[in-house]
Amino acid sequence: MLRAAMGTSTECKNCTTPEAVNMITHRIGHDLRAPLRALKILPEWISEEFESAETDIPPKAQQFLEMITSKAVQMEGLLAGLLEYALVADPEATVSCVDIPAEIDEVARRYLANGAYEIEVAPELSTLVLIREDLSAIFKHLISNAVLHNDQCDSYDRVTGRLHDATAIFCVEDNGPGIEREFHQRIFEPFAILKPRDEARGSGLGLAVAQKIAGCWGGRITVRSELAKGSRFQFEFPVEACELASEELVPAEIQCKGLVLWANTQERHPE
Ligand SMILES: Nc1ncnc2c1ncn2[C@@H]1O[C@H](COP(=O)(O)OP(=O)(O)OP(=O)(O)O)[C@@H](O)[C@H]1O
Ligand SMILES: [Mg+2]
Repeated sequence: MLRAAMGTSTECKNCTTPEAVNMITHRIGHDLRAPLRALKILPEWISEEFESAETDIPPKAQQFLEMITSKAVQMEGLLAGLLEYALVADPEATVSCVDIPAEIDEVARRYLANGAYEIEVAPELSTLVLIREDLSAIFKHLISNAVLHNDQCDSYDRVTGRLHDATAIFCVEDNGPGIEREFHQRIFEPFAILKPRDEARGSGLGLAVAQKIAGCWGGRITVRSELAKGSRFQFEFPVEACELASEELVPAEIQCKGLVLWANTQERHPE
């Protein structure tokens, strides 16, 4: 499978480039979907066979079947995360003019349905020209973490955005359990989770994806947190004035306000 994904050795001269590695990961990820689906469905078929033979499944065997299903679900999550990671920096992605508070609000409503939240974005950042899907993915990972890893029943999150010199700075703060200082770097590595894999609720790829996107924008994500004192993730990236944005991209009425800034996505969109 790996050989097929990589092609012949002559085709594969550059297969160590990040693009080639991403492509291989992507293809392998797709190939793994079918066997995973089978792993999920086979325990059901085995149960049905026992049922039609009017025989009870021995309790230990039942327990193993459930374990197969839950491991397959876990692998599906890992695979989805891996594919998302490999697809960051999609060369097909295009920039558009985005209403930032509305975009963040949409993500927050999706993930914070049961918690209180507040969004405060400075007016100068209210419209940005950038890759909407990327921005939404970063907030999805930061905001979903604020919920997924928060054991408080009265969870609270605050998202703020401000402009400092030519840098857009967004913060996502929560009142969750916090993260020990020694793990502040490690949590951004792919598959890094702070709980044993069996107890974890996620795959450990969200922050790696978010950090990879931020890097493509010439930006970064950092964390400030202490145990029992909540966490504050800061996502910052350089922005430029809107002369770069064409009239087609940015409606004239918005350009008139002189508020439009352009996120530096040149690594993906060389001129
Ligand atoms: N807001 C937070 N509060 C407490 N711990 C956090 C927070 N965000 C991340 N973490 C810790 O960092 C780890 C890595 O986070 P990351 O988003 O990369 O993966 P995940 O949430 O476990 O899984 P995934 O995002 O792939 O579903 C988490 O497993 C968790 O231990
Ligand atoms: Mg996560």
